[in-house]
Amino acid sequence: MICSKAPGKILLFGEHFVVKGKPALGIAVSRYAVVCIKHGKGEFFSKQIGRIDHESKDMLLFRTIIEKASERYSKKAVEIENVDVYIDSEIPLGAGMGSSAAVSVAFTHALLSYIGVDFSLSDVNEIAFEAEKRVHYRPSGVDNTLSVYGGLLYYQSGVFKRLDLKLPGNVEIVVVDTGLKRATGEVVRSVLERYDRVPVIMSKIYEAGEEIVNKALEYIKDANMIGLGELMLMNHGLLWAIGVSCKECDEIVHEMIRQGAYGGKISGAGKGGVVIGLVDSSISSKILESIRQRGFKAFIVKPDYNGVSEIRGID
Ligand code: PMV
Repeated sequence: MICSKAPGKILLFGEHFVVKGKPALGIAVSRYAVVCIKHGKGEFFSKQIGRIDHESKDMLLFRTIIEKASERYSKKAVEIENVDVYIDSEIPLGAGMGSSAAVSVAFTHALLSYIGVDFSLSDVNEIAFEAEKRVHYRPSGVDNTLSVYGGLLYYQSGVFKRLDLKLPGNVEIVVVDTGLKRATGEVVRSVLERYDRVPVIMSKIYEAGEEIVNKALEYIKDANMIGLGELMLMNHGLLWAIGVSCKECDEIVHEMIRQGAYGGKISGAGKGGVVIGLVDSSISSKILESIRQRGFKAFIVKPDYNGVSEIRGID
């Protein structure tokens, strides 16, 4: 049996503004999707969602990857009926943490190892992106790129720049699931409608968003987490101004700050999904506890700088 694991992601800065050509900053985090493949009878099983029907939408992702791998290596990768696939993902679904990209990336990586072809990480990235394009509405490619390579990623107008930067070792990120599900496409549309109503005001907000990303890079280089936290709050305020915050989102940010976080903000499309807090590891458990007491699901992650990898020793 061949197994690969791939990380999820969060957006540190710039979501939504990126849709209009401004930069954004994402980071891969230590929550993983594991996908295993072995010779079998076409059974696809997810520990979280159960048996995956061959005709279902979820199956489209796996089918696309098999099809694209077959095209790329000019050989039939596998017949779906001849393999069993097992998926175990600890990344919340539909919360903006790149869960489907991580499954696509882990499956692509495991499949290419299974069929025994020579491949690079960019092969994995391109194939996984094809699957993302088939199952999501106009994905930017940021989720699969982060999941493949790990680390920090700066992206703007379809161009990705992997950054050779790290957050200080004592920094952790508290991720809070608001529990509110939303479709990214719909949230993006509502923001673009607001943009059309008040373009002059919105363009100033977007420019501020861009300046925040530039300043954030400076602070990350200087390991200035107090500064970075302040920028996160400013970014959250801008997301509020464009209409994508929510009562729970604001409550979580306030509580994290009250408990001593450097900063906090919505991560991703907003109107629910996840809220993140930048915290020192000495107080992360305390913050986690206070957020959980308010009834939210929350967990702590660290940056993942490795990206997708094979897991050995699973039978
Ligand atoms: O919630 P997510 O991680 O899917 O993020 C959406 C990010 C947006 O900027 C709102 C949309 C996009 O395509 O970049």
